[in-house]
Amino acid sequence: MSMQGKRCLITGATSGLGEVTALALAQMGAEVIIVSRREEKCRRTVEIIRDQTGNPAVDYFRANLSSQNEIRDLAGAVKKKYARLDVLVNNAGGFFWGRRESVDGIEMTFALNHLNYFLLTHLLLEILEKSSSARIVNVSSGGHNNQEIDFGNLQLEQNYIHFTAYGKSKLANLYFTYELDRRLYGKPITVNAVNPGYTASNIAREGNLFGWIFMPLTRIIANSTEKGAETIIYLASSEEVEGISGNYYQDKKAIPSSPTSYEVETAKQLWYISEQLTGLN
Ligand SMILES: NC(=O)c1ccc[n+]([C@@H]2O[C@H](COP(=O)([O-])OP(=O)(O)OC[C@H]3O[C@@H](n4cnc5c(N)ncnc54)[C@H](OP(=O)(O)O)[C@@H]3O)[C@@H](O)[C@H]2O)c1
Repeated sequence: MSMQGKRCLITGATSGLGEVTALALAQMGAEVIIVSRREEKCRRTVEIIRDQTGNPAVDYFRANLSSQNEIRDLAGAVKKKYARLDVLVNNAGGFFWGRRESVDGIEMTFALNHLNYFLLTHLLLEILEKSSSARIVNVSSGGHNNQEIDFGNLQLEQNYIHFTAYGKSKLANLYFTYELDRRLYGKPITVNAVNPGYTASNIAREGNLFGWIFMPLTRIIANSTEKGAETIIYLASSEEVEGISGNYYQDKKAIPSSPTSYEVETAKQLWYISEQLTGLN
């Protein structure tokens, strides 16, 4: 599969699934832009991708995607440098063992895993619309199953439970995907969500001793990052999904997400609240 002539932006591409995705797309000849929060790690990843693929068209932007100001600055810088974007992979995410807040005072899991996708996508739509056929890929998770959005406790001020916070944010990725698909109707931009499956990445290791010890142990039952990234790469590049939008994928197949995730009124309400929280409305 050739991605020659396609420009792809991948968030959270200095580790795990994002890094493998960026490498694969560069290998296919795409122009690749990686985004992550640490300057040095971004630089190193760009070098690794260039070395391993022989593709010099690898660029980076540093941004902490839990900060709305940084997302706005990032989008501004990307739009200044690039007039067109063909693929946006919203992948940067995290799992937080204890409740904490972003610089904007928003619960961190919701800020990074959902509002980041929501705001960055909105701000980059202008250049995605310049592509003859653009794709947005939102990395969600099977962790969304059995979760619901509780608008009365959206930021989990009461009863923060890490797995629940994570699962709800990944359900929010699906509401966002399906609502965005409805709103993009008639435009040459597709949007799909993906469950990479349980993958041996660096997620859930940050800032917690248990995470550092426990997460590496789980690697024996986890997919490799190469396996986990397969469906992300497929959605970003395969001709088989050209023009297909509004689906949830796992193992390169569209599968149903949880029944709750298809509630249109909940998706609309979450959209409205996300607009308020990001100052888009
Ligand atoms: N691993 C799994 O089992 C699994 C399963 C289902 C879904 N997912 C989803 O897959 C996506 C990628 O996760 P992963 O498993 O590959 O985790 P990972 O190895 O921890 O990679 C996460 C990436 O996001 C970046 N990042 C984290 N916080 C950021 C911030 N505030 N601003 C900018 N970049 C930030 C990280 O940067 P650094 O390199 O600086 O840390 C890294 O590049 C997430 O959306 C996750 O929810 C993962």
